[in-house]
Amino acid sequence: TTMTAIALALSAGAAFASAGCDEGEIVMKFAHVTNSDKHPKGIAAQMFADRVNAEMDGKACVEVYPNSTLYDDDQVLEAMLQGDVQFAAPSLSKFEAFTKQFQIFDLPFVFKNIEAVDAFQASEQGQAMKESMVRRGLLGMEFWHNGLKQMSAKKPVVMPEDMKGLKIRVQPSDVIVAQMETLGASPQPMAFAEVYGALQTGVVDGQENTWSNIYGQKFYEVQDGITETNHGVLDYLVVTSVDWMDSLPEDVRTQLTTILHEVSMERNAAVTQVDAEARQAILDNGGVIRELDDAQRQAWVDAMKPVWDQFVDGIGQENIDAALAFNA
Ligand code: LMR
Repeated sequence: TTMTAIALALSAGAAFASAGCDEGEIVMKFAHVTNSDKHPKGIAAQMFADRVNAEMDGKACVEVYPNSTLYDDDQVLEAMLQGDVQFAAPSLSKFEAFTKQFQIFDLPFVFKNIEAVDAFQASEQGQAMKESMVRRGLLGMEFWHNGLKQMSAKKPVVMPEDMKGLKIRVQPSDVIVAQMETLGASPQPMAFAEVYGALQTGVVDGQENTWSNIYGQKFYEVQDGITETNHGVLDYLVVTSVDWMDSLPEDVRTQLTTILHEVSMERNAAVTQVDAEARQAILDNGGVIRELDDAQRQAWVDAMKPVWDQFVDGIGQENIDAALAFNA
């Protein structure tokens, strides 16, 4: 990157620091839907770009497009297969059209904490999941953590019964849709970028998400409060196109893969901290968080776990058992 390009990018108020790839560099677009700072995915994507742009200068260059500025998650995988974008990190709930293998992550109350998720993903079984879409043209490169999900709504929610009749925005996942139906709520699949407006205008009454997403999108501003249910996990898979990856010179592919792996290890190890900071930032900005006592929490487990019955045959009891073992 020349000084002129930097100056131009700065004066144009470019949204990403990686603006201005040099001629001759392999340019890669990384599209995602969250904010960039105080967010596990935003931080990791930018760190990946910064490292590639420094260490592979002259060879390769990553441009990050955060906040759904390039694609929504329901467009990005098709765009990737067309060669219009090279990296994305949709949540595991967004791959259903390509594989059902990630449904296990959407079942409520499977993983006790992010350490259990990490251990399951690192196992042979978890690592094999990254290749589950290769025949469909997508290669999973790394899992990225976000965290456990909380419930929020326009009225106080303490017990699972409080969800009855509420219209709740969900990610487009059969498991999450069924989970909300089990609670007597009305699930409304919707793109992430539209959720704040939908909550504000009453198109939906509530949603479920992680602390960093609730903070990053300011959902706490347009909800009565957030109930600390920790009922499910929201994690990511960094994906790329098999064909595009195969087209790269081997040294470029190796260096990219190594940098992405190192960034993933570093950021995944820091995720608990980012999560806690986002939770605190919600409180500092006037958001309301409702904690549950043991009996209240058990009521959520009892209300939501029956949804497992609908998916156990597809997911496989042996896979659920393998995941549960990491809670020990
Ligand atoms: C959502 O749609 O709520 C999340 O998947 C967004 C994200 O990327 O964390």
